[in-house]
Amino acid sequence: MAVKGRTPFLAGNWKMNLDHLQAVAFVQKLNWSLRDAGHDRGAVEVGVFPPFTDLRSVQTLIDADRIAFSLGAQDVSVHDSGAYTGEISGQFLAKLQVAYVIVGHSERRQYHGETDEIVGQKVQASLRHGLTPVICVGETAEDLEEHGASAVPVAQLQAALQGVTADADIVVAYEPVWAIGSGQAATPQQAQEVCATLRQVVAEKLGADAAERTRILYGGSVKAANIASFMREPDIDGALVGGASIVVDEFSAIIRYQKHVGV
Ligand code: 13P
Repeated sequence: MAVKGRTPFLAGNWKMNLDHLQAVAFVQKLNWSLRDAGHDRGAVEVGVFPPFTDLRSVQTLIDADRIAFSLGAQDVSVHDSGAYTGEISGQFLAKLQVAYVIVGHSERRQYHGETDEIVGQKVQASLRHGLTPVICVGETAEDLEEHGASAVPVAQLQAALQGVTADADIVVAYEPVWAIGSGQAATPQQAQEVCATLRQVVAEKLGADAAERTRILYGGSVKAANIASFMREPDIDGALVGGASIVVDEFSAIIRYQKHVGV
């Protein structure tokens, strides 16, 4: 079971799904589903990470209905303002009460050429604006075969934490690329091993207190059926969920993992 003091974090990365009208309907339904199930709002933190165009609508809804979800964005510019067509500043996100930003997701590394250096700059941009970066790291199938599971995520995290101070608020997400959207999740033991190693990296870079406090999530084909087994591991403090996070009943059940048999 994740260590007490680190509030479990169930975060839904919607990726490029749901327009702003669908987003509002989805958040309302998810909230009703949790309420109907008698979910204890204090038990876990729930995060939704919609596309940029949905953020304002979701923020307004969360605010008006006092919904206990944290709001996150899926990316942030390395710049604060200026002639950067199409970019979104952390400053704008902070104004929308966005609390978290996904940084270095493998889809951005793969399709948008985000290097470790850019990811590091995005971590800095997030922190500059009071946003908590959710730093994504993970190995491809080839990396796994060549270097084992930990080497690439460790190197990615070391690079991302360059220049980060010990008091910074960060979240780390271990997402093996081969497990994303494949239906083939890592085993809880595999994920625990890497997450424990990543916690050591946080300890080396930011100190023991930061390592104790920092939440490390697992991501990659997380479903209602497997979430409880991940959450039993001591170094897994939550999940970054893709596909299953945009299905109301499924994400609702993931959030209520503590009620699953045997947890
Ligand atoms: P899936 O849950 O669809 O495998 O996606 C995981 C992910 O990439 C979350 O960021």
